[in-house]
Amino acid sequence: IDVKRIRNFSIVAHVDHGKSTLADRLLELTGVIKPGNENAQVLDQLQAKRERGITVKAVTASLNYTYNNEPYLLNLIDTPGHVDFSNEVVRSVTACQGVILLVDANEGVQAQTVAVHSLAKRNNLVIIPTLNKVDLPRADPAKVKAQLKSVFHIEPDTVLKVSAKKGWGVKELLEAIITRIPPPNIQSNDYFRAHIIDTWHDKYRGVLCLAYIHSGTLKLGQPVKWKSDMKQHTVKFLALLRPNEENITEAVAGQVVMVGLGPKGGGSVGDSLLSPEATNCKDTASVPAVRHMVYAGIFPADQSQHTQLSDSIKKLALNDSAVSVSVDSSPALGQGWRVGFLGLLHLDVFTQRLLQEYKAEAILTAPSVPYKVKIKGAKVIKHYKTDEVIVTNPLQLPDVNNIVEYYEPFVIGTIITPVEYLGAVNTLCIDRRGSPLPSSAVDEQMTMLQYILPLSEVVMDFHDTLKSITSGFASFDYQDYGFHASPLVRMDILLNGVLVDELTSIVHTSRLEYNARKLTARLKEMIPRQMVQVAIQAVVGGKVFARETLKAYRKDVTAKLYGGDVTRRKKLLKQQADGKKKMRSVANIKIPRNTFIDVLKR
Ligand code: GTP
Repeated sequence: IDVKRIRNFSIVAHVDHGKSTLADRLLELTGVIKPGNENAQVLDQLQAKRERGITVKAVTASLNYTYNNEPYLLNLIDTPGHVDFSNEVVRSVTACQGVILLVDANEGVQAQTVAVHSLAKRNNLVIIPTLNKVDLPRADPAKVKAQLKSVFHIEPDTVLKVSAKKGWGVKELLEAIITRIPPPNIQSNDYFRAHIIDTWHDKYRGVLCLAYIHSGTLKLGQPVKWKSDMKQHTVKFLALLRPNEENITEAVAGQVVMVGLGPKGGGSVGDSLLSPEATNCKDTASVPAVRHMVYAGIFPADQSQHTQLSDSIKKLALNDSAVSVSVDSSPALGQGWRVGFLGLLHLDVFTQRLLQEYKAEAILTAPSVPYKVKIKGAKVIKHYKTDEVIVTNPLQLPDVNNIVEYYEPFVIGTIITPVEYLGAVNTLCIDRRGSPLPSSAVDEQMTMLQYILPLSEVVMDFHDTLKSITSGFASFDYQDYGFHASPLVRMDILLNGVLVDELTSIVHTSRLEYNARKLTARLKEMIPRQMVQVAIQAVVGGKVFARETLKAYRKDVTAKLYGGDVTRRKKLLKQQADGKKKMRSVANIKIPRNTFIDVLKR
């Protein structure tokens, strides 16, 4: 196929604005699936099935379409549709020259519409603004066109109208894809190079990669090497995804194809495949590396299930290149893993799959964000000398006396809300330590607010709270704003003066009193009474911020002696007192594992 007749595009939209439904219609019109199956959601089913109704993984479909008697190859690169997955959205668009910006004609511009629009702009992509759901009686295309004009300066006469459900306007949309989006810009006489947009794991064939070919040609059986380690392999599998695999023997620059190098061939997102003669590697579009925003510990409910859970986590991680897994261990919970996620929803999807697909039981600790600290002197980490350390688990904090500065991750949050909730939303953002950026009107009813917010405050329950204070009418999305210095401290929990490792946390000074009180009170409620009195303290830098006392329960050792001999009673009471002393001296407080699970779980 002539590269002039290739179009690579994505559909980007706020969640539920109809991306999957539109993809189905495009697949139908190009003859991939039979019409009639009203909401088949083919792309979703194909890979991620439907996890809570949200598209998780980016998949692709190469579609044939004839326009003006010329054959075209349209590559629809599907993108996941949720705030957590914006990293994957970014990866998908690096192979595109244009996007369909889909907006629900009934709901109008939402927070995620703003985020995906700015992403498309940053990548210099052609934007085809498209209103969906125009069949709905309450659809108001004129109003949403005006919103597009005021928020994005999009001219109303360039906006298309479709109903993905009914199939209205989809043919016109296909033609707009051909006429408005340029063909891929490639250097045809250069050596072969391609970058990896996505990977997944196949039981028999090993890692399969979705690759965008920047230049040259790729043939089945040809030698290639990875940019990362320069190791050479042979192309064992080559296919177009239509979206079902269609084996091919050759692919050219501008195409998006599935490549497999066999069980030992490897492949990871962001890496590049090069022809063996390629020497310099200035090349390939930079694919942003995955950034983990949320971490949680995963432990087997019972250590006997460790191997089974380990297998399950490994399998899931192979098919989700966005998670990071490292071994973790906790004195109370045993051997487990620390897993990094793109966001809370990603964490939910991962653990639900863990439970559903592998029937593995697991304990999940409360999610936390990564912190950064600057330390005195430099340290060598992975061959680099650095004075900055990323801490994904509070337990790994360097000695506080060595810490010069703490940093926490911030995000720019975009909120679109009806004006009547402005007061409540502003209060929520300020309460969550947010600093406001200029706001702007979407139209008379809706306002767009932007805040710089600490990620730790967002991952808690920000989205749920926002939804509940605005009766579900506000939408929210966030973009990474990097690490910034912040007055954080390390808070420890002591039981009778002894540090309980797994209860250490990193806390903002403004939250210190509150967190200290809450946690000690909670522990007092949950730790069963002991033979000894237990002091529960929340301590920062040697100073006690909250204290609770769990009274000893006096086991009535004399109960069995009905009246009886006084000396015998005294002897038993003395034994009991000695026992208390002994226990106190080793601070041997018996805390059931369940208490830890309850406190650490989310
Ligand atoms: P995610 O995959 O979660 O990002 O959602 P999505 O954007 O792919 O939305 P999806 O296609 O799942 O559609 C969301 C809902 O809107 C579904 O109930 C669809 O049936 C409905 N829907 C999609 N397009 C139309 C349309 O043109 N008209 C009407 N009336 N409903 C539509």
